[in-house]
Amino acid sequence: LAAIAAATTLCAAGLAGRAQAAEKIVLKAGHAASTSNTGHQALEHLAKELAAKTDGRITMEIFPNSQLGSERELVESIQLGNVDMTFVSSAVLGNFNKEFFALDIPFLFKDRASVYRVLDGDIGQGLLASLDKVGIKGVAYWENGFRQLTNSKKVIKSPADLEGMKMRTMENEVHIAAWKAEGANPAPLAFGELFTALQQGTFDAQEGPINLFYDMKFNEVQKYITKTNHVYSPWPLLINPEVYERFSDADKKAFLQAVKDTTAYQRELAQKADEKAEAAMPTVTFTSLTPEELAAFSSRMGPIQEMVKKKVGGDIVDRIVAET
Ligand code: PAF
Repeated sequence: LAAIAAATTLCAAGLAGRAQAAEKIVLKAGHAASTSNTGHQALEHLAKELAAKTDGRITMEIFPNSQLGSERELVESIQLGNVDMTFVSSAVLGNFNKEFFALDIPFLFKDRASVYRVLDGDIGQGLLASLDKVGIKGVAYWENGFRQLTNSKKVIKSPADLEGMKMRTMENEVHIAAWKAEGANPAPLAFGELFTALQQGTFDAQEGPINLFYDMKFNEVQKYITKTNHVYSPWPLLINPEVYERFSDADKKAFLQAVKDTTAYQRELAQKADEKAEAAMPTVTFTSLTPEELAAFSSRMGPIQEMVKKKVGGDIVDRIVAET
């Protein structure tokens, strides 16, 4: 009895000691965008919210500009536990969980309303949850945005204008196949190496959101943007699952609430960012396409859609198409 009593006291003292010295947690977060980007601003916002909700116990250290590696390396680091949090283009996640390729079919989404229906509904939330099986916890979708076609040579209004152009894509086989089908000569490159590659003429063209183009000063080396809106890039926000599971219940609640608030904040910033960036680049020629001109690009994507359907299996592509 005495032994049991002593053990109970020890245990209680241990618990009290632990409760008093509630653990300080520093979350190490990395990403590939610049500090002026909405994704970086959102991580700073998340850091403030987390600190406020936990009396400064949970803080964040943020490493922008691919300092902790390319997007692919960042995802691997999340799996290994070398990095605690990141947001990356969903296109890169297809290499880890092929179901994500379903989001990469060009001209799938017409507008943000259909994007949010898919991402915030069963399909998007199911995709985030499916990351569990590859050692990643997905907690939200931030917004990189609708991607546009940019180049250093000329106004592009048709696939014929793009013929043979050397074009950078993300590390994603669907994007590579799609741009080949459009007539370009595509190759993948990590984002951190892109400015120099465009400057040196290794690539004539690339594609991405207008605000990202502006943040990275690509307007110094590329003068033409065609508004194709060909792909919507979500930024899944990821955390190492063990780090999340080590949070107390109260910290999990605080974390998820901070993520929710920050997601609303980030999406609002992102929705305005392209317009602001366009206004700030008077020397860039922006080209809008008529529905017929756009159809010349989108009509080449039938085989790509079939390719993705085969690759991902199941009915996820059909379910997305039904929502858009
Ligand atoms: O173009 C890319 O590689 C991605 O859009 C980026 C900039 C790394 C953000 O996810």
